[in-house]
Amino acid sequence: MFRPHSVTIMSASLEQLVTLAAADFAAATEPAQLEDAKARYLGKDGSLTTQLKALGKLPPDERKTAGAAINLAKQAVESALTARRDALQSAKLNAQLAAEALDITLPGRGTERGTIHPVMRTLDRIEQLFRSIGFSVADGPEIETDWHNFTALNTPEKHPARSMHDTFYLLGNDGKPHEDVLLRTHTSPVQIRAMLAHTEKYKDAAAIPELRIICPGRVYRVDSDATHSPMFHQVEGLWVGKNVSFADLKGVVADFLRSFFESDDLKVRFRPSFFPFTEPSAEIDVAFMSGALEGRWLEIAGCGMVHPNVLRCGGFDPEKYTGFAFGMGPDRLTMLRYGINDLRLFFDGDLRFLAQFH
Ligand code: PHE
Repeated sequence: MFRPHSVTIMSASLEQLVTLAAADFAAATEPAQLEDAKARYLGKDGSLTTQLKALGKLPPDERKTAGAAINLAKQAVESALTARRDALQSAKLNAQLAAEALDITLPGRGTERGTIHPVMRTLDRIEQLFRSIGFSVADGPEIETDWHNFTALNTPEKHPARSMHDTFYLLGNDGKPHEDVLLRTHTSPVQIRAMLAHTEKYKDAAAIPELRIICPGRVYRVDSDATHSPMFHQVEGLWVGKNVSFADLKGVVADFLRSFFESDDLKVRFRPSFFPFTEPSAEIDVAFMSGALEGRWLEIAGCGMVHPNVLRCGGFDPEKYTGFAFGMGPDRLTMLRYGINDLRLFFDGDLRFLAQFH
């Protein structure tokens, strides 16, 4: 038990001081408050420190007893401080544990199974059908150069597709649109990339094996309404070889469409059109012989024979090689296959719509 001696120079008795300090510490509810309280007793100008300093002024024979008494008091204050620190710390820990407690009696939320997006189902199906007739799947970047997206595809410098109303250009460091870098407006630049990757492998320009690819992917245009989304999908097709003809194009596309829609009496027509990168060019329309859309012609792709300038940009000699290309809209194919009338449903992310496609 602590029993302080009375020392004449003290302003309050040591016993009182210890009691005061203990009460002060007990009143501190935050570590910072506790440290403030500590300073009042043990700090540089704290009351106990002042008393220790004053010892020097006492006559030597009193100094020893007074010193021992102050030290005892100091020890008592320090242990009260440590006890309070520990108490505050464990209170904090307990509060944290209580706040983070898991109620293990609650039932789990469970994990729901996702579904494959309807457009992705269509792309998978298109890939499967084209792989079965010897096409492989190629890929290309969505951020394209002007050269791959337009120039190499024989698109004139002043072509309207190159305007900012139609094409998303990327901004340069100066905050102005970058003329050479854009979001691809179609998958046709992959024709160029696939041809170059293929032809570069062969030294003899007359002995390049044929190339058969499709390229499914996202494309971007400045356009948005019920039937247009600024981001949509295309599937490019390209077959370059010796003696590839428009008849091959018609056969491959018509066969594909009948398999895709599982309908032998689907009507397919090729309607003359224009693209800078094909000559001749056509739009492909289909008409169903039954159902809500019976007899209506619906446009689903653009196509044509690859223009000689495009073949040349891809490293093929147009005197020796010919090819056909098409660009289909798989979003449209999906709408027709599932009877969906608003394109935006695909990209709004509403689970009530998406979860229907199991
Ligand atoms: N790239 C064209 C478009 O986006 C489609 C197309 C591809 C046409 C290939 C002809 C050949 O409209």
